[in-house]
Amino acid sequence: MIKIAPSVLSADFSDMKAAIYQIDYSSAEYVHLDVMDGSFVPEITFGSKLVKDIRPFTDKTFDVHLMVERPENHIEAFSKAGADIITIHQESTVHIHRVLQMIKANGVKCGISIVPSTPVSAIVPVLEMVDLVLVMTVNPGYGGQKLIQSCLDKVVELKEIREKEDYHYEISVDGGINLNTVQDAAAAGIDVAVAGSAFFNAQDKSAFVEEMKDLAAEAVS
Ligand code: DX5
Ligand code: ZN
Repeated sequence: MIKIAPSVLSADFSDMKAAIYQIDYSSAEYVHLDVMDGSFVPEITFGSKLVKDIRPFTDKTFDVHLMVERPENHIEAFSKAGADIITIHQESTVHIHRVLQMIKANGVKCGISIVPSTPVSAIVPVLEMVDLVLVMTVNPGYGGQKLIQSCLDKVVELKEIREKEDYHYEISVDGGINLNTVQDAAAAGIDVAVAGSAFFNAQDKSAFVEEMKDLAAEAVS
């Protein structure tokens, strides 16, 4: 059974509490929080203050996706704000290993993400230490984009490496994941599916999460 991680990027930012309650009410496992700095990606979203302020409204896992330059400057703040997993981008700093260690030292699970143009080989040296690998299936920065199908080959590759090396990370995909694409992602071998626009556009959000899980299960049966 895959986990679903609704991304609040597609929520109404003027009513974030309601968005968290909608996720909390569904059987989604994670709350995916997209932090953008206007430099690593064009847009700016929110910082650790928002994460801290919404933390009381759900016990679900806070999956913080840092799309920022110099992520090392923000680890402590997001850890204190209540992140359960902090994912940084391979492309965002040369000191990936150090920042992943920093995340762990703060008592938080660590993840590594790669944009569509970065191959899996770029993160092989850190795979033994991560709890999550976030494969971007669109170019990061915006919700509502179309999935780049070839990125799913990286999921297959990551699953093979995990089996061969006996690593423990979850494989998550982010971007363009919806009722039409979740089966291909599941067949490739994902553990977690991030869904922003598909979740928040769904009339019945709880039913959407169930349907995503059922479709994924069907694809691997
Ligand atoms: C994009 C973000 C995603 C975004 C996905 O840069 O990292 O998490 O919310 O949005 P959808 O599911 O609409 O493609
Ligand atoms: Zn994301």
